[in-house]
Amino acid sequence: MNSEKAIVMSGIRPTGYLHLGNYFGAMRNYVKLQESYTCYFMVADLHALTTHPDTKELKENVHRVIAENIACGIDPEKAALYCQSHIRETSELYLYLNMLAYLGELEKTTTFKDKARLQPDNINAGLLTYPVLQAADIILHRATWVPVGKDQEQHLEMSRNFVKRFNHRYGEIFPEPMAYNFGEDLVKVPSLDGTGKMSKSENQLATLYLADSDELIRKKVMKAKTDAGPAAPDTPKPDYIENIFQLMRLVSNPEAIRFFEEAYQQCTIRYGDLKKQLAEDMVTFISPIREKAENIRNDKKYLDEVMSMGAEKARKSAVATMELVREAMGLVYSK
Ligand code: TYM
Repeated sequence: MNSEKAIVMSGIRPTGYLHLGNYFGAMRNYVKLQESYTCYFMVADLHALTTHPDTKELKENVHRVIAENIACGIDPEKAALYCQSHIRETSELYLYLNMLAYLGELEKTTTFKDKARLQPDNINAGLLTYPVLQAADIILHRATWVPVGKDQEQHLEMSRNFVKRFNHRYGEIFPEPMAYNFGEDLVKVPSLDGTGKMSKSENQLATLYLADSDELIRKKVMKAKTDAGPAAPDTPKPDYIENIFQLMRLVSNPEAIRFFEEAYQQCTIRYGDLKKQLAEDMVTFISPIREKAENIRNDKKYLDEVMSMGAEKARKSAVATMELVREAMGLVYSK
């Protein structure tokens, strides 16, 4: 990233409690990026409707995501922290982009196929065009960098395809957005049960949430799958053991990691001790975020202020982009 003016955009769905995957895949980078770039960070409430049409808990969930973002270090004065549905221009751009998105590519999207499998009775058009709405979120601010976890890679590739088609047909309005992790591979935080990734709604006992109590964190970590340990030196780690080490690399200090790595190599490792260390390091990491978020969440007035300040900044950029878009598309008839 070399230009001072680079624009950064990302979003999180308010479909449940935020977890360690959201933190290390996304929010950690938001916090770093807000120092030097023009940042737009959003709660994707419209995307949530594709899988969670019942809106009874939506307000509470939106408030929690905003509070947890701030507790993790987002400064609403520096970044625009806002709610997707507050920016009506998103829906307009989504409509235009839908004309440039093909049924075949949308049907092939991994997240669409996964969600269609999970909710066979509600395979709605919003679910199908989910990546189009995500592209609209990003390019509405003409963003170049999109800090996200590994699971969003395909959506970013689709965003670039929509941009290329738009620019080709109507003129160069948008930069091609790229997934961003400071030059490193995108992050995938594994779940505690050795299968898949941490996630907001699946396998809740294998996911560490930023709102989990100290006791629950300890319980979840101690339940992580292990085995009798390696039988010979330099045995490759099975996935579920590698996952525990991977989680440790996120929160534990290098000496502790080295100690357990060596113990593994020498076949002297005690998995009970490894998990106890990880559990305590997780508690140390998560509990200050949880406590801070709780306080912020109870201050509704402050949350409202943050969201309206964020929406104002986001709207300004959205309005400017949409003027260019309508003009480029030949939708301005008065001149
Ligand atoms: P969502 O809400 O599923 O996740 C929010 C962010 O957390 C990252 N993430 C992970 N990273 C590493 N390991 C994990 N186990 C893990 N789980 C989640 C995600 O990659 C993401 O960065 N479609 C998006 C929301 C969205 C968006 C956008 C993102 C809407 N508009 C525009 C970027 C730009 C989503 O469902 O994220």
